[in-house]
Amino acid sequence: MHKVLIWDLSTRIFHWALASSIVSTFVFAYGFDEHDRLFQWHMLAGLIAAFLLVVRIVLGFVGTRYVQWKHFFHYPADSLSYFRSLIGNPATLYAGHNPGTALMALLMFGFIPTLVFTGITQDWEISEDLHAGVAIALAVAVGLHLLGLVVYTFRQRDNISKAMVTGYKTAPVDSGISSGRPWTGLILTAVIAAWIYTLLATYDAKQATVKIPGLQSVIHLGEKEKEKHHD
Ligand code: HEM
Repeated sequence: MHKVLIWDLSTRIFHWALASSIVSTFVFAYGFDEHDRLFQWHMLAGLIAAFLLVVRIVLGFVGTRYVQWKHFFHYPADSLSYFRSLIGNPATLYAGHNPGTALMALLMFGFIPTLVFTGITQDWEISEDLHAGVAIALAVAVGLHLLGLVVYTFRQRDNISKAMVTGYKTAPVDSGISSGRPWTGLILTAVIAAWIYTLLATYDAKQATVKIPGLQSVIHLGEKEKEKHHD
């Protein structure tokens, strides 16, 4: 086993941008009252996470080897034997996502649009309850993701977390990708930054509205703020 290049720059940039946006949604949701203007940043961070997910969906089709969607799916028998190997023998090594990270990542990818949809439709009673429930599920998935990384690090005596920074992971020598595609990563960073800039340029804190770049649809950032203006 050697350290080989597995994650291209785009994936690493996506990962840390997504992690920051998800952490921000929780910080602004739990750190501020719903009537506080800063609470609106909870929704803005959620919209950014949704855009990042769109980017990731595209990367899943056009990205390098291990970023592609097919690498998220493992046969149930392989997954079972992987989880068993975590307790007993040294865990099976995967060049791309192991069944644990793959499962948590897919759950996170599913929870994000659900949260955005139920967040935008807060006037519906069902959305309010669903939003709170799915937010907890997302927090649990993130927690399990981090726990999985800690378990893996101690079991394998290999700091896997570094792989999402450097791109290099312990894997068979011939399993690496030939390039981290730095230019694609830089272009992607520019696209993400431009999208966020355009989103924030349309953000009106007083009216509690924002326009989605590309769609131009106006989003109301919170039911309570809307009611306040109608009073
Ligand atoms: C809110 C926080 C986080 C979220 C939402 C998150 C989400 C994700 C997602 C979605 C993936 C799959 C990447 C992809 O294929 O696009 C992933 C993989 C990964 N994450 Fe995180 N992550 C978070 C925090 C962290 C932290 C703090 C670390 C390290 C200290 C970390 C290290 C990794 C690594 C190493 C992988 C690749 C694992 C593998 O080899 O399969 N993540 N994460």
